[in-house]
Amino acid sequence: MEMTTAVAATTWEHGRFDARDGPHKLLFGRMYEDAAIEGNAFRLGGRVFCIASAGCTAMKLTPHHEVVAVDINPVQLAYVEHRLNGGSSRAGTAERILAFARALGPLTGWWPSRVRAFLDLNNPVEQMVYWRRDLDTRRFRAALDLLFSAPTLRSIYASSFLHFLPPNLGAVMRRRMERCFASLPNRTNPYARALFLGEMPNERLPPEVKNIRLMHADAATFLESEPVGSFDGFTLSNILDGASVAYEQRLFAAVKRAAAPGAVVVLRSFRDPPSMLPANHAAEDRAMIWGVVDVRPAIEL
Ligand SMILES: C[S@@+](CC[C@H](N)C(=O)[O-])C[C@H]1O[C@@H](n2cnc3c(N)ncnc32)[C@H](O)[C@@H]1O
Repeated sequence: MEMTTAVAATTWEHGRFDARDGPHKLLFGRMYEDAAIEGNAFRLGGRVFCIASAGCTAMKLTPHHEVVAVDINPVQLAYVEHRLNGGSSRAGTAERILAFARALGPLTGWWPSRVRAFLDLNNPVEQMVYWRRDLDTRRFRAALDLLFSAPTLRSIYASSFLHFLPPNLGAVMRRRMERCFASLPNRTNPYARALFLGEMPNERLPPEVKNIRLMHADAATFLESEPVGSFDGFTLSNILDGASVAYEQRLFAAVKRAAAPGAVVVLRSFRDPPSMLPANHAAEDRAMIWGVVDVRPAIEL
């Protein structure tokens, strides 16, 4: 693992969801971003900049790309290094929050056997019939509204992670789930199993993981130090959810500078998409939770 001194204006640098002082934490034990989006967007053999997070996207891309994986949170990066060396997956804060929500499932009709039967379905029409009949219950809707209500979110997250979120987030998340169930088969959706059953990745690592370059750094700072035109792809996770406008401008300038001709950027967000966003691939992302999965040429940032 290499290191640069990170200078950043982003809440993510604290390595915590809350606003308290304290040690950095492992926030993500796995990723909730469908790396097939990046796999389709990036030129084969190209050099790719990844946000490391839990390492899943870097691991998926490495057989066909030269991957540099960067994270501002040293705990998260050490976890990725552990996974790349064959270590097992572990729950982070996100997985603990999801486990708490799942434990309440039976109160809303979400018995584990019922959820498993749903996730075994392979046909979106049948999925929607099952969803409406057995899972989208009044109690489920009330529980989701409570889970995504402002007081609950404020008890978990710093305000800089919340101000951009759409109102009625419970209803918004339900619509994002339905968008996925109505169009993509559950049986081949590992992200649905992660969200609703808590399954952690245990796939065999491709041998190329040994080639992934891991860097503890802020994304913008790191890219500013890389050669001009040296990356063909950038996958930026949702790092701008929690960053200032000034940081966004700095990051976009750093990406454009480091972008090779034809380079493509993938950027996710929990925000509702702006009305004109032609490149939004959120509906194709099997992780289903995103409002924006923006895939566009770097020069258009
Ligand atoms: C943005 S978070 C979101 C997690 C993600 N949606 C997932 O499913 O894994 C992913 C990672 O980005 C890292 N991160 C956030 N801002 C960053 C920045 N400016 N530079 C480098 N890493 C950053 C966080 O530390 C975290 O490990």
